[in-house]
Amino acid sequence: MKPFQYIPALKYHFFTPIYDWFIGLTMPEVKVKTKAIEYLEIKPFEKVLDFGCGTATALILAKNLVPDAEITGFDVDEKIMKIAQNKVDKSNQKINLVCLYSNTLPFSDNYFDKIFSTWVFHHLNSEEKLQAFKELRRVLKPEGKMLIADWGAPQNFLMKILFTILQVFDNFETTAHNKKGLLPNTMLNGGFETVEEIGFQNTIMGTLRYWKVS
Ligand SMILES: C[S@@+](CC[C@H](N)C(=O)[O-])C[C@H]1O[C@@H](n2cnc3c(N)ncnc32)[C@H](O)[C@@H]1O
Repeated sequence: MKPFQYIPALKYHFFTPIYDWFIGLTMPEVKVKTKAIEYLEIKPFEKVLDFGCGTATALILAKNLVPDAEITGFDVDEKIMKIAQNKVDKSNQKINLVCLYSNTLPFSDNYFDKIFSTWVFHHLNSEEKLQAFKELRRVLKPEGKMLIADWGAPQNFLMKILFTILQVFDNFETTAHNKKGLLPNTMLNGGFETVEEIGFQNTIMGTLRYWKVS
């Protein structure tokens, strides 16, 4: 097995400080994250995980939407988690941030009621995607729900071209699996029982798809 590695938010660490600016400019970021959170129908006092939380934008949105939920963000990158911590401190919200350089999650079995993740899985190769879904299945309660929003199979020819341009700048190995539409199957192989695509959004970089998983 290869040593654990990861791809930072904008591929190189030196771009991490401009991540929020870049994604805000190029993507319908707040719309996507709000939609992902709303699809989960989080209830007060539920335990919620954002896997690959990046700069904590979605965590703060989730906490604002459901102030009584217990919200936790996990990421493997210390640098982006420093930005996340500053934003959480400024928001005056109680949000747990957990950073660990590992492909195993530091949470006990069946801990979370809900899990969401936006724009993370295209950073992981096929083996890492499977390992991540196995871990997410382990920490999610049996009756829990998960919402994944990430690049999926392009919805039309224009989306295919735009996504190919993204692949040139991003990473061919990890994004090819998304482009082939293999993510739902990998979720099932990771131990989830049902995967339902509940929407998609065409963007200037390709088709983002939403999957409700349990
Ligand atoms: C494109 S950013 C998305 C961040 C955030 N979810 C958002 O939507 O803005 C991808 C994030 O995934 C994290 N990441 C990469 N590999 C990971 C892994 N194996 N486990 C957890 N997070 C990972 C990166 O550190 C980065 O913060």
